[in-house]
This record gives sequence, C-alpha cells and structure tokens, in this order.
Amino acid sequence: MKGIVLAGGNGTRLYPITQATSKQLLPVYDKPMVYYPLSVLMLAGITEILLISTPADQPNFRRLLGSGSQWGLELTFATQPQPNGLAEAFVIGRDFVGDDRVALVLGDNIFYGPGFSVTLRRAMAQLDGCVLFGYAVKNPEHYGVGEFDAAGRLVSLMEKPVKPRSDKAITGLYLYGNDVLDIAAELTPSVRGELEITDVNREYLRQGRAQVIDLGRGFAWLDTGTHDSLLEASQFVRVLENRTGVRIACLEEIALRMGFISAGECHALGEKLAKSAYGDYVREVAVAAGGAA
Ligand code: DAU
Repeated sequence: MKGIVLAGGNGTRLYPITQATSKQLLPVYDKPMVYYPLSVLMLAGITEILLISTPADQPNFRRLLGSGSQWGLELTFATQPQPNGLAEAFVIGRDFVGDDRVALVLGDNIFYGPGFSVTLRRAMAQLDGCVLFGYAVKNPEHYGVGEFDAAGRLVSLMEKPVKPRSDKAITGLYLYGNDVLDIAAELTPSVRGELEITDVNREYLRQGRAQVIDLGRGFAWLDTGTHDSLLEASQFVRVLENRTGVRIACLEEIALRMGFISAGECHALGEKLAKSAYGDYVREVAVAAGGAA
C-alpha cells in the first residue's frame, strides 16, 4: 500500500503564524506537525510515501524530510498550487499510486492511542472499498460526520452539517482501494469549489463498500486548526511524554521498531540531532536496542 500526506492549504485560520511558513511544519511540542501523520503511515507499515505541499513550502519539507531513506522510507514530493480540495490528492498522486491501494492522511491530524498500529493493520487487511476512522467529538459540525443505524452500519456521510446526525467525526485518515483514483477523477467541485473527500467516501457508501472503524474513548484525535487547539495539542504531547518517558511520533524510534532501520543507524540519527532532548531520546532508544553506545 502507498501513502499520501496532504500538507497543503493556506493555514489561514492560524494567521499570522502561517503567513511565512506551512502549518504542517509548525511545532507540536518537540517535533514538526508533519511527523505525526507520517508516523501513522509508518506504523501501518507503509514506506512509499508522497508528500503534497504548496509550491512555496516544498523546499522546506524537502529540507526537513530529505529522501526519507534515513528512516527507511521512499519519499516523493509533489505540489498542490491551490487548495482545491482533499480529493485532489488522488489526481496529483495518480502516477505515484499506480495500481496499488492507498492511505491518505492529512498533514495536520494527530492520532494517539493504544493498539493503533494493530487497528491499522486489521483495517488494511479487510479493506474493500474504503475504511474511514470515526471519533466522537463535541463539535461534529466542524468535520465530516457519519450517521449509523441501530446495528452500527454507516448510513450517511455529511461534510460539516449544520445539524449533525451523530457526534462521530470522520477523521483525516482514509484507506482506499485503487479505484479511488477513478472516483476522484470523476468528481465535480462542490459549492465550496473543492474536490471533497466526503464525496469520494459517499460514492463508496453508495456502492456499499464504505466502512467506519470507531477509534473509541481511550483514543486521542487532536485538532491543530486554531491557536488554542494547536497549543493544546502541544500540551497534550508534553504531558504524555513527560509522564511516561516515551515519545509520540518519534520517526527514528518507529523506523527502528518497524525494522526499517537498524539500531546502529538509529543511533547515528540521534547523533545528528545533536544536543536536543529529542536527540538524546533517539540515542537512548538505539542503545537499548543494541545500537552503539
Ligand atoms: O481533519 C478531519 C477533517 O478534514 C474531516 O473531518 C473533513 O471531512 C475534511 O473535509 C477535512 O475538514 P477540514 O475543515 O479540516 O479541511 P481543511 O480544508 O481545513 O483541510 C484539512 C487540511 O488539509 C489542512 O491542513 C489543509 C490541507 N489541505 C486542504 C485543502 C482543502 C490541503 O493540503 N489541500 C487542500 O486542497
């Protein structure tokens, strides 16, 4: 399966912070925001990843992430000149996806929860059509929303409904079969002028091939869309990391645990991170796994 991180958009809700930089490069406590969605794809075992950003921001993403080979990844970069909608990722990424299946993750979405990689792998194994991930929120009107019947089956999908029919937001992680390329190619822009991901998902629902996995109460799906939610996400990560001593979305550690890199390679990455506490952590993880001390 291939992976796409969509990290474009103008980030206008975070102005003036995002006037000169990409939203997805902003820090969420100890690492750039884009590390979090990248970590999701890595935990799913995906190593071929396309990162889509605005043309202006692409050089910075390249500087930060390089070829991805340091983490055992194969990163490709593409640009989206205008925020024409999330589903445009499949128009831009058509050649990259080829005849494979694909996972799309939004560059500003943060997922954290027990057993997440197991959940992802199970979802990938049973994928026929699309798999979406639902999460109960108190402000569903700000998101895509799923409606379910008494048996828990998905019956409707709405984008930012004024009167949501449930509290289940559809998060920014989507798994698709290869036919998503054709479905996206056939889309017409919505009233907002965008190629809507909800319209893609609705087509799968119409075909009876859309499934929603509920992320459940113990899970954290964090928003970074406003100044407050961005700060709260940083605070969440800080509290969790300081309490447990374990870092979330540490790409070097995930690459090591997934077997993408060796302990020695992980240690060398920690050395390059110099004196930061993040670098110290990477070296400790590598040493514990038998990398150079
Ligand atoms: O975060 C989950 C939500 O993401 C879903 O529940 C909604 O169904 C989905 O439409 C989307 O809603 P948002 O209001 O968050 O979409 P927004 O336009 O803010 O875009 C989400 C991210 O994707 C944002 O970081 C910018 C980036 N983006 C957006 C568009 C429209 C792009 O890179 N390109 C685009 O064309």
